[in-house]
Amino acid sequence: MENLILCHPRASSSQDPNQAIIVKCEVPQTIPNNHVLLEVDRFGFSTNNMTYQALGEASHFRYFEFHHAPDAEGVSSTTHGVTPVWGFGTIIKSTHPKVHPGERVYGYFAPARYLLLAVSSNVNKYAFFVPRPHLPPDRRPYNQITRCAEDPLYDPSPTAEDLTMLYRPLFWTSFWCEDWLNSSNYKGGSTHILISSASSKTAFCLAYLIRRRNSLQGSSTRRVIGLTSKKNIAFTKRLALYDDVFDYESFDTSLVGDLARGRWIYVDVTGNDALNARVRDHFRACGDSELVTCIALGLTNVSASTTEPSSATGWGSDSEAPQGGDKMEHFFMPEWLSIRKQQLSVSAITQMQKEAWTRLMSDCGTWGVSLRRVCGPDQVKAAYEEIVKRGLAPEEAFVWSLWGETRVYGSTAKL
Ligand SMILES: NC(=O)c1ccc[n+]([C@@H]2O[C@H](COP(=O)([O-])OP(=O)(O)OC[C@H]3O[C@@H](n4cnc5c(N)ncnc54)[C@H](OP(=O)(O)O)[C@@H]3O)[C@@H](O)[C@H]2O)c1
Repeated sequence: MENLILCHPRASSSQDPNQAIIVKCEVPQTIPNNHVLLEVDRFGFSTNNMTYQALGEASHFRYFEFHHAPDAEGVSSTTHGVTPVWGFGTIIKSTHPKVHPGERVYGYFAPARYLLLAVSSNVNKYAFFVPRPHLPPDRRPYNQITRCAEDPLYDPSPTAEDLTMLYRPLFWTSFWCEDWLNSSNYKGGSTHILISSASSKTAFCLAYLIRRRNSLQGSSTRRVIGLTSKKNIAFTKRLALYDDVFDYESFDTSLVGDLARGRWIYVDVTGNDALNARVRDHFRACGDSELVTCIALGLTNVSASTTEPSSATGWGSDSEAPQGGDKMEHFFMPEWLSIRKQQLSVSAITQMQKEAWTRLMSDCGTWGVSLRRVCGPDQVKAAYEEIVKRGLAPEEAFVWSLWGETRVYGSTAKL
């Protein structure tokens, strides 16, 4: 059997990291003990994945160490990286006694047709884990493979699976970030939350959840303000999730007087030092406003040639620095989730997540984000090249597969 894997030159090689290639190699005939072979059906692709690629070799993140590029056609794991993707697949072979062929699974896969994964001993009915002892223990959420049959959030319809791949990795970050903010009463009663890269799914899901909290608490005083590029202003306003939206160029001339008054939290999804410095300077100069804290949540502005994000963004090597001064506070979901797991029962957390997910699935249809299904190796390569050239438009959400359209969706491919 032939495998196909989407790979990229590493930024440290002398090649262009944006030159994606689809590498052909053989699927192993026999698999080692305690392994599974998956057929990767399809996977979501958003700026989140471009960030994984950009930080593939960065010392804190090491995203290229989850799946390795094969040795084939002038490609090797020292010259090339594999960008992880969130996707669905089916187990076709297993040498683990507790995991069986035919199971539908969701996880942090390689953009490939087939994927061989080791399975650790702690298998339960909800999930199993890929052992990756070379990575820090806090990467455990990336090692979890969810067994769909017992997943309370799973809906097998093709559109529900597509929405899951697109929103699930981002929504839970936004969800637990909002829960964390709420646990401190929004850092002591902040009245305004400013969010950059406001057109991104991570940012607007956070805005959505803050609005939801406002309505649950009967509070109309906590306002959510978006910052975005000029070209994405119309989309971001149309979402109707922000109280106000400003563009990066002119926010400091618009966000003044009564509009600026209050206690502010800034949640940064761009990772752009220059923008963050302008935000801070602006609030320092505004008489009646206080910038309580700046939180690092994303890095939409890193590019594939970036090797390390700057420490000023909160993601660099000294990113542990607390709030205050010019440092960013870093929200790290696994850390907060482990605190919540001590405070709440598993069933309470499952219930919270189920309610939030069900509501998201019914609300997200009005946000004007359309699914774009891309099937086949040449088509996926072309779609990637288009993103490198044009960037990712917020109104388009990609689901990719290295298999042909009919195999993946049958006759339902066209939405
Ligand atoms: N902390 C975490 O654990 C965590 C978890 C999930 C996601 N994230 C991060 O959140 C960020 C957003 O991911 P997403 O998948 O939600 O994004 P998305 O929906 O694909 O966002 C698209 C938006 O990102 C901005 N953007 C895209 N490409 C860009 C480029 N080349 N240069 C500058 N801006 C660009 C634009 O927003 P604007 O015009 O509005 O700037 C664009 O509208 C990513 O950096 C991701 O890694 C972090």
